[in-house]
Amino acid sequence: MSSKWTPDSWRAKPIVQVPEYSDQDALKDAEGRLASYPPLVFAGEARKLKKQLADVAEGRGFLLQGGDCAESFAEHHPDHIRDFFRVFLQMAVVLTYGAKQPVVKVGRIAGQFAKPRSAPTEKQGDVELPSYRGDIINEIDFEAVAREPDPRRMLMAYRQSAATLNLLRAFASGGFANLDHVHQWTLGFVNDGAMGARYKDLADRISESLDFMRACGVDPESAPQLRSTDFFTSHEALLLGYEEALTRVDSTSGEWYATSGHMIWIGDRTRQLDHAHVEFFRGIKNPIGMKCGPSLEPDDLIRLIDALNPENEAGRLTLIARFGADKVFDHLPALVRAVEREGRKVVWSCDPMHGNVIKASTGFKTRPFDRILKEVEAFFAVHRAEGTHAGGIHVEMTGKNVTECTGGAKAITDEDLSDRYHTHCDPRLNADQALELAFLISENLKSERDTRLAINA
Ligand code: PEP
Ligand code: CO
Repeated sequence: MSSKWTPDSWRAKPIVQVPEYSDQDALKDAEGRLASYPPLVFAGEARKLKKQLADVAEGRGFLLQGGDCAESFAEHHPDHIRDFFRVFLQMAVVLTYGAKQPVVKVGRIAGQFAKPRSAPTEKQGDVELPSYRGDIINEIDFEAVAREPDPRRMLMAYRQSAATLNLLRAFASGGFANLDHVHQWTLGFVNDGAMGARYKDLADRISESLDFMRACGVDPESAPQLRSTDFFTSHEALLLGYEEALTRVDSTSGEWYATSGHMIWIGDRTRQLDHAHVEFFRGIKNPIGMKCGPSLEPDDLIRLIDALNPENEAGRLTLIARFGADKVFDHLPALVRAVEREGRKVVWSCDPMHGNVIKASTGFKTRPFDRILKEVEAFFAVHRAEGTHAGGIHVEMTGKNVTECTGGAKAITDEDLSDRYHTHCDPRLNADQALELAFLISENLKSERDTRLAINA
């Protein structure tokens, strides 16, 4: 692992989960063009995110990461971005209140286009075609031409990411993130009868805090922090040809940064120590994530941390646990203990989505809300028991009123799933479910804080 790193050194390693492009000239052409295009993010922004994540690793913050399972070319409407950002900001406010700590906001957006798949092909009746691997690679329609990997799609993904990021930057600094507005939207959610009184108390306390601050002269008109926000982008860096083309030397530090997004992560299926993805990730300086599923053993985790964060820099590495609600206690404690024993600085985040997929009685792939919640609560319980910081949450969600995950206060049943099942890949929390989850996590954060205060008293 100590051999020389270059943006293309991953090409000499074994690799899984990548498409086979039949037109190699077209592939070279697309990668060459991308390499000549402007970066999507600036290295200084990635460093700023790393600094914020360092605080999370030290127990002084909470990471909120979320967005679509897969962005799509068909769904590139501004309302889609706006609705996502609105509910994401609402979640952040609710979590900030519970944690009494800064919430680091990282979207799965503006680049989340490539998907690992459980099988290379899909069979419908007698017809077998390559699996859909995300819009950056091929098309979802079950037709031979559509499923053929097309390198030109990388250029479309780049342009869509740039446009999405542009709107998000405008929202983050142009007034949309005004705290008063965000809280007003949340009151709308709470006052909707179906939600019951459960979340009203917390929402009322946020209202009182805002009123108190206003009386003291601190409001969005006077305090820029209350009318704008930091917001960062992230995606699974699966398609390494695309990532390599957007990997650039930062002129201020002379170091290599992936400029396709602020943070990128390695999926659970591509984190083999001697493979291409780990090789690529070890050389870039961005904050990175790694998914940790049930097959990850503690010793392997430490070896991966050695490769990915040899200098033990806080904020560099976020471990995203995704075991499934019933498996957290079997796997997470041993990993947390290994990390503690070795003194490694990481952010522990919980992805309660990917281990909890089931097939509904109506045939749809779904994730029951109560299993998602159960995984989050198990994650918090493990960290309470180990004396470590439950540092974040990683969710697949949308601002739209889709029917993809069952349950929640406005219970979605197996029969409802067919109403608005729009995802291009995995089932996402809808706006109400996402906000409800934030309220429930906020309660957990409050009890983590109360325990800490009691211990320190
Ligand atoms: C994902 O985050 O969409 C994903 C595929 O996750 P994992 O690598 O954890 O399976
Ligand atoms: Co997914």
